[in-house]
Amino acid sequence: MKFIAGPGLGANSNTAVVGDIRVPGDKSISHRSIMFGAIAEGDTHIHGFLEGDDALATLSAFTAMGVNIEGPENGEVLVHGVGMHGLQQPSEPLYVGNSGTSIRLLAGLLAGQKFPVTLTGDASLTSRPMGRVADPLRLMGADIETGENGRPPLKLKGNSELTGIDYILPMASAQVKSCVLLAGLYASGETSTVEPAPTRDHSERMLDGFGYEINRDGPRATLQGGGKLKAKTIDIPADISSAAFFMVAASIVPGSDLQLRHVGINPTRTGVIQILNLMGADITLSNEKTVGGEPVADIRVRYAPLHGIDIPEPLVPLAIDEFPALFIAAACATGKTVLSGAEELRVKESDRIQAMVDGLVLLGVDATGTEDGAIIVGGEIGANQARVDVQSCDDHRIAMSFAMAGLRSQCEIVIHECDNVATSFPNFAALATEVGLTLQVLAD
Ligand code: S3P
Repeated sequence: MKFIAGPGLGANSNTAVVGDIRVPGDKSISHRSIMFGAIAEGDTHIHGFLEGDDALATLSAFTAMGVNIEGPENGEVLVHGVGMHGLQQPSEPLYVGNSGTSIRLLAGLLAGQKFPVTLTGDASLTSRPMGRVADPLRLMGADIETGENGRPPLKLKGNSELTGIDYILPMASAQVKSCVLLAGLYASGETSTVEPAPTRDHSERMLDGFGYEINRDGPRATLQGGGKLKAKTIDIPADISSAAFFMVAASIVPGSDLQLRHVGINPTRTGVIQILNLMGADITLSNEKTVGGEPVADIRVRYAPLHGIDIPEPLVPLAIDEFPALFIAAACATGKTVLSGAEELRVKESDRIQAMVDGLVLLGVDATGTEDGAIIVGGEIGANQARVDVQSCDDHRIAMSFAMAGLRSQCEIVIHECDNVATSFPNFAALATEVGLTLQVLAD
């Protein structure tokens, strides 16, 4: 599937981004709701579940391990929990597609099971590093084999007696932190994680919500193995990572005024709002409340002229999935934006620094990749060209970001390999069109 975006404002058409929308459910929370619901005692009702391929891969993995799950239907899912020791050996390797969260969190959850299991995924996932989860799990006593160079497949041999560890994470990663904590549920004694910078804390919040004692002290999270989870109802907010594309869209086109409803604003996820605000964006929050342990708000974004900034490094982990969209904001800002301390972007669904810089350069933007970030000088997009073809590298967030660039492009942008948009945002094209984007979806 390919997208053809624009031409937008640069070609003098009137493309203000206007509307009142709710983007789909949070991907990170959707994964965790299935995982925790499956090993809880009782029935977990989930509302607002993201029916995207990644979260569905997690759901299928638990179905394959004998968990009875009803739905999803209009975002409703009912998980009949099997308790801590009720999972069954799947008959085949668990294939989790494009989903890093599935493979890394499942590795932790399954490392302490009695049965062997193999985890694998698509071409992108099988080129991503798994040593970051295999290493701490081995320290806990798990018997794990990885593929070449620490890549998937992950073969968990089963029947490992896990022992709690005190693990200082070498990188800011919520997937690694969650993996270790999930293994800790099945380990003897105490398991702690210490993170170098705050990362999304949905696992910690949800464990607490399921009645599992977890102590948090600054960067340290600690739990004791051998407890139980009690089923609950979960209301999943809209995903701020999906909302981010629209925050950028409304910020870069004069006349825009967009409401984004019921968005998760967990402080470990709001780096995108802070960064856009530093660039001069006009973003206001209203209806702030806490739903099931997670803060949510309506977010209104109106056009404002953006200017380049040096992005403060402490904000990087808090906006880690939003940099492709923020690169588009930087390309539309006056002056220079400098990103550093973001080397993790090179091991996402694609090398996101390279993928974004390559596309921006083709569009005539002054963009340079660095080892741990990029330097982008705002300017015209797609000037003096009739059409530019960019590669999304099979990465959902690269595809959606270049769709937003179409709003300010003077030429058509043809974005290739967009199928994976369905991993996180299945109705993206429909919502984008609804709020004013010129976007065609065609077979590749
Ligand atoms: C996620 C953590 C982040 C993020 C990913 C989802 C999670 O990955 O990029 O999209 O749900 O825990 P890292 O832990 O690799 O930073």
